[in-house]
Amino acid sequence: MKTRIGIDALGVAVPRRYVELADLASARGVAPEKYLRGLGVREMAVAEPGEDTVALAALAARRALAASGIDPRDLGMLVVGTETGVDHAKPVASYVHGLLELPRAMRVYDTQHACYGGTAGLMAAVEWIASGAAGDRAALVVCSDVARYGVGTPGEPTQGAGAVAMVVATNPALVELDVGLSGAASTHVHDFWRPLGAREAQVDGHYSVQCYLDALATAYRGWKAIAVERDVVRPGGVVSERLARICYHVPFCKMARKAHQHVRRCDLEDASAPWDVAQEEARADASFAAQVEPSLGACTRVGNIYTGSLYLGLAGLLHADARDLGGKRIGLFSYGSGCTSEFFSGVVAARAAERIARAAIDDVLAARERISVAEYERIMALPATSPLGAAPTDGYRFVGVSGHQRQYARPPA
Ligand code: CAA
Repeated sequence: MKTRIGIDALGVAVPRRYVELADLASARGVAPEKYLRGLGVREMAVAEPGEDTVALAALAARRALAASGIDPRDLGMLVVGTETGVDHAKPVASYVHGLLELPRAMRVYDTQHACYGGTAGLMAAVEWIASGAAGDRAALVVCSDVARYGVGTPGEPTQGAGAVAMVVATNPALVELDVGLSGAASTHVHDFWRPLGAREAQVDGHYSVQCYLDALATAYRGWKAIAVERDVVRPGGVVSERLARICYHVPFCKMARKAHQHVRRCDLEDASAPWDVAQEEARADASFAAQVEPSLGACTRVGNIYTGSLYLGLAGLLHADARDLGGKRIGLFSYGSGCTSEFFSGVVAARAAERIARAAIDDVLAARERISVAEYERIMALPATSPLGAAPTDGYRFVGVSGHQRQYARPPA
């Protein structure tokens, strides 16, 4: 069995436009503080029909391959995790495979379970390499989604769009994952779903928060039991504090704060230690600022990107902190409504700072244009198959349907 497997490089792609959540709050007659502090969101990516799940995935994948420097001929697997695919049969991965002209002799498929789909792909890739079946080949895992709840809904300020692609390989330059060290939790619940044919998700918002927290408790405890057994963490007390950082799935940034408080509460309950509520609140705030907040920089500027949300958090964390994190273990929690989830961990590589710089996250975010709420509403009302007027210079673009086949324009080589 191979060891030392993980994420070698990351690529991030986001739509070219965003709306300020303070502007959206004013337009909806809501106190801006509700969005900015209550939900913890600042900016929200707005995708036009041309910037669909395929276009975003292809651009992120191209960037991840460039960042890793891998020869595409050394890939043996391409998995796209998505819950907003463009066809009931032909996977997004198939389009990405074609647009990037990847080798013929490889596995290419999508994975779906709401926001967990990307993690399903990541785990499949890691275990494929660990088993030895991959030989010397690497995998490309892409998480790509356009998150829509609809104009005027409670979920509206928690929309977003974007893709994160990861090259998964041996001796990774970003994060070496702890293979086999994870806790999973699944329950059949209707917290969030999207019936066939609907563009907007249905959600039981407050219930979905509770489902997330319930799943987190089980998954975290599952991870902790194995971590203690393997001597990866010392038992007793607030075990989660022994992780240098924790990245959570981020549907909106405040959710990460709720998640972190919940994990600490699990630790305290497990330790059967009495705690003072006010003291614990202060400790949880300090621990959130140190262990979690550094991962939220990019998330708060893009919004929910479903499958990629956890990995946008990871990208943001490495961008902010990789220099201090070399050799340190971090935790990751992936949640897919419906629901399934997984808490897992990995060790940040010594060369992560140099490698994440190639993702140029500041440049990717700075290249966007702020739009008005009226312009956002105009884009939201466009039919999904609206063709694009001009050829793109900066990314892939869906340009319309011809003979029942979706057509894409590519950026110049
Ligand atoms: N100043 C500061 N804070 C304010 C405020 C103000 N003026 N007004 C309200 N707030 C606070 C509230 O106190 C609340 O904070 P707490 O949660 O800490 O109590 C917060 O702002 C939100 O207020 P509400 O609960 O009243 O907001 P809401 O009912 O309008 O909707 C929501 C919130 C349910 C999350 C909604 O946005 C939603 O449905 N979002 C989509 C579902 C979602 O993201 N679920 C997350 C878990 S599921 C998942 O993770 C999978 C996924 O990706 C979808």
